[in-house]
Amino acid sequence: MTQIPADYRWPHKHLLGLEGLSADDLRFILQTARGFEDVSTRSVKKVPVLRGKVMANLFFEDSTRTRMSFELAANRMSADVLNFSSKGSSVSKGETLTDTARTIEAMGIDVCVLRHHLSGAAEQLSRRVKCSVVNAGDGQHEHPTQGLLDIFTLCKRFNRDDFDMTGLTVAIVGDIAHSRVARSNVHGLLKLGAQVILVGPPTLLPRSFADLGCELSHHLDSVIPRVDAINTLRVQFERISGQAFPSLREYATFYGLTARRLANAKPTALVMHPGPMNRGVEIDSAVADGPRSTYLEQVANGLAVRMAVLFLVTNAKPVEPATP
Ligand code: CP
Repeated sequence: MTQIPADYRWPHKHLLGLEGLSADDLRFILQTARGFEDVSTRSVKKVPVLRGKVMANLFFEDSTRTRMSFELAANRMSADVLNFSSKGSSVSKGETLTDTARTIEAMGIDVCVLRHHLSGAAEQLSRRVKCSVVNAGDGQHEHPTQGLLDIFTLCKRFNRDDFDMTGLTVAIVGDIAHSRVARSNVHGLLKLGAQVILVGPPTLLPRSFADLGCELSHHLDSVIPRVDAINTLRVQFERISGQAFPSLREYATFYGLTARRLANAKPTALVMHPGPMNRGVEIDSAVADGPRSTYLEQVANGLAVRMAVLFLVTNAKPVEPATP
């Protein structure tokens, strides 16, 4: 049984990625999320833990799941929420990210949740504002709450109550190169002991991931029988310059998750997708809506995970130096 040390204290004011977190940090977020799950089952789905705090959702890129999930998570904890979308804002008049964030911060916010098309935007913003910053997806870099909710889903399904994932093998399939979801999953899964196999066409699978400890493969059919979960990624057409593969039909032929392909998986193997899906490209509807699929469970789990993250970053206390 893996235990979080008794003297562990959450030390982070921001959540910028999973790369910079320790295994204990990850376990502590997931354990805190487990404590918040119950709130969504009550008749009054609200607790007062963030009463008086203000969260600003700053979305410079489109989102359905992440934005709504953060808003509901903040509402469930009684925080006030400001929603900003770059469309229809003064960004069209040339206002920068920093000026936008500082303007909203001047209204008195405690945490801003940022989605931005630039990799590193959340880290940059965290240096320029006084409030906590939570990365809700920055370019191709990280999407830490998606990684956390994917891991939370896996741990629940495989009864890993201590969030030790040793012995589990997870395949992440598709457009790895442009995927912040893949990066956050890789960092989180490896730290918690899982084995990670990245699968995709050579043009979308950077060799550098092998240095992190991932196995790389271009052959989905040979990987499927070995894994406990297959996390299928959307092809991010909006981030691909040039032609990464000959045609969508060819991509689907080699990397699309079909019922026929999945027949070779372990009986217990799960199919995950962060959404939004390109049905018929990386995943067939029969699989997406089939009995192994967890994509709606992932959405539901995201709420507890985001409650935990908002709770922890807004209540972060500086770590006391160790007494000699
Ligand atoms: N998974 C995810 O980030 O979805 P959205 O883009 O809808 O937030």
